[in-house]
Amino acid sequence: KMIRTRRFLVLVLFNFVWTFSGVGSETSVSCVLNENCILPCQSKRRIIYIEWKHESSRIVGYDHRGSSYSESFRSRASLFEDQISRGNVSLLLRGVKVYDEGRYWCSAITIDTYYEYDVVLTVEAPVSDIRIHQDGNRITCSSEGIYPQPELTWSTEPPSNTALQNRITVHQTEEKLY
Ligand SMILES: *[C@@H]1O[C@H](CO)[C@@H](O)[C@H](O)[C@H]1NC(C)=O
Repeated sequence: KMIRTRRFLVLVLFNFVWTFSGVGSETSVSCVLNENCILPCQSKRRIIYIEWKHESSRIVGYDHRGSSYSESFRSRASLFEDQISRGNVSLLLRGVKVYDEGRYWCSAITIDTYYEYDVVLTVEAPVSDIRIHQDGNRITCSSEGIYPQPELTWSTEPPSNTALQNRITVHQTEEKLY
């Protein structure tokens, strides 16, 4: 019995590594705000059913009859239909937003197994444009549309002994940008 159990576990483990390329079941992906983003999921076995979920909501399901997208994702998410027969069931997210961040699940039923594959998405909006404005002895520096929250410090070159008085304010927009 022991031997059979162990053989079974080895088989399950082997199947796991075999079916989805990459060791471990979690991948991290970082995408730039408003750009297109690919969440990878690749099976080496023929896929019978696949589903992508984000947190609790379903994005798309695919089987031999084709794919069906949830209403809220319809215009923004898609599978690479021509790649599915090759086991590439990666998800394309168009114009990625900060609220798209989080954990995604790619679950697949293949001819002999069931797998779940996690992809953790983080979104970045890098600092692109800094405005500096001088008014007498007050200098104002500002930027917008940044994510995640930036660290802000003032310094002078060369370093100065004069105490700089500074006030930093940070706002977050409805789209979660700083
Ligand atoms: C899946 O297909 C897309 C589109 O052709 C490609 O960009 C992506 O790299 C492929 N993913 C894998 C894991 O092969």
